[in-house]
Amino acid sequence: MREQLGRDFERFKRELPRDFPVHVRETYHIDLTGRYLGHTIPHPIGKGSGQLSLNQEQLETDREAGVAFVVLKTVIAEDPAGERAMSAWAVHETRMKVERRISASGREGWTVSWKGRGWDRSFDDYLQLVRLAADLTRSRELVAVPSVKYHLPRLEEPFRGAEYRYTTERLADAWGADPLPLEKDFSPTLAGDRLSDERPQILRWLKEVPGQIRGARDRPVRLALKLMNARFDDDFQLEMLEAAAAADALVVFNRLWDSATGLAYGGHDLSDRNLRVLEAARQRTTSMPPLVGTGNICSGRHVLEYARRGCESVQLHTFFQLPLSQFPATEGSRPQRALHALIFDPRDGLIAGMLDLEQRGLLERHNGELRFLDLSSPADSVAPSH
Ligand SMILES: Cc1cc2nc3c(=O)[nH]c(=O)nc-3n(C[C@H](O)[C@H](O)[C@H](O)COP(=O)(O)O)c2cc1C
Repeated sequence: MREQLGRDFERFKRELPRDFPVHVRETYHIDLTGRYLGHTIPHPIGKGSGQLSLNQEQLETDREAGVAFVVLKTVIAEDPAGERAMSAWAVHETRMKVERRISASGREGWTVSWKGRGWDRSFDDYLQLVRLAADLTRSRELVAVPSVKYHLPRLEEPFRGAEYRYTTERLADAWGADPLPLEKDFSPTLAGDRLSDERPQILRWLKEVPGQIRGARDRPVRLALKLMNARFDDDFQLEMLEAAAAADALVVFNRLWDSATGLAYGGHDLSDRNLRVLEAARQRTTSMPPLVGTGNICSGRHVLEYARRGCESVQLHTFFQLPLSQFPATEGSRPQRALHALIFDPRDGLIAGMLDLEQRGLLERHNGELRFLDLSSPADSVAPSH
């Protein structure tokens, strides 16, 4: 199998077949199936919300490459009069810098430096993209999901219900008859904002936002809360996980905030913290909504680190932005080259990593197959993370 993996890695450098999960199942007897917000997906790797999911062309490229799911750029909620409580987040900024970053533990990784925030075009433009996302999702070729930043009140203030209602209803109308899948973004810029100075305020948002969004209409919403890395300690991250129990999924956790430079950042500091908190959460007995990992996932082995701490899928941003010279593939779109490395790299790819886990007795075959989803399920099919 290792030899076969070496051969596949070489030949797919020129073109990764869109149905690679079928090939992986037939050749390696590995079932890569993952789950994201109620959708069963052919493999666990999706694209996080951001500058890489702003338009039709990007979505088409991802569909062709075989990305499992994409979260659209976060739109800022508005009320019927067009008022936006979080208007400070609708910033126009195009310049991004993909940079190396050394973590506190001394490891070199990547980060994207960028001053922008949410969707900066009109809500109507966003709804057009949501219609396209709904069509793609119905076609079963790519799950594509909107993301929103709604009003977040101070402790003594009420939620602006009109903003929640209007925005959710318009998104649901654009989506069509099926339940609306939605991510609610708690971003690093929010973590850095004075609004997030108080812990009880953040915990209230996490408890009450799902009700605000679902109360907004009679049609069901499948809601993922994308949690921020608050500027408090790991114990508070665990409190946040508990407070967010009403969500249908949790995306864990968005980038870190550097108050000195006023920039969000990633790299190994981000994955070190996320994995540490997820490990601690796994030790606790309280049940949580299904988890989706995010943060410095730059190899299949990183995907497995998140999976072994409970994540049924992952969403990446930075890796999909790296210079082409960083990918071993020589042809194909950026998402194709990224998937090629994440899945087929003979040393650090997902297949190599799952075969290693089998060898170490940490993952067992069922009916002859290794199953990605066995890693995140607490069932007795997998041993604990260490
Ligand atoms: C330039 C940039 C813009 C982003 N914009 C958003 C956004 O609008 N909404 C959101 O939920 N996450 C946003 N993110 C966060 C990413 O979706 C992702 O969760 C995060 O960067 C961690 O993953 P990574 O280390 O693979 O980049 C953004 C990230 C970057 C780098």
